Amino acid sequence: MQRRNFIRKVSVTLASVAGALAGISFLKQFTHGRTGSGRKARVGRIADFPVDTYTFLEEQKIFVYRDHEGVRAVSAVCTHLGCIVLRTTDGFECPCHGSCYSETGDVRSGPAPTALQWYRVEKAPDGVIVVDMSETASAEEKFYLT
Ligand code: FES
Repeated sequence: MQRRNFIRKVSVTLASVAGALAGISFLKQFTHGRTGSGRKARVGRIADFPVDTYTFLEEQKIFVYRDHEGVRAVSAVCTHLGCIVLRTTDGFECPCHGSCYSETGDVRSGPAPTALQWYRVEKAPDGVIVVDMSETASAEEKFYLT
């Protein structure tokens, strides 16, 4: 009887650990471990970004937005626990716990505690767009095309 209970407890423990590892592995696809800030990223030329479109850059975990005036960049990292947000018709939404952000990245509904971070955008001498993830910007700030 004691041996049967021991085996049952070991089985439950192993199943729990396996389930937790599978859950962590699943959630990792939505996160980036909060790395990638504090650096500049060369993200492409103006022509790479269609007008009035948010382009998701997986490596940098940012959305680059271009309109007729210029280019802006916003973090795609949810401020709750770091999942990658998805673009919606009128803002952004986190698939992990349901936080919703407005078009400007402000929190519409939590649990996200703060707005998405916008970054400074500049153009390198060779014409490549550079997103400086060590320099924050307001949602209205953009690199103006000339
Ligand atoms: S990580 Fe985005 S709502 Fe929790």
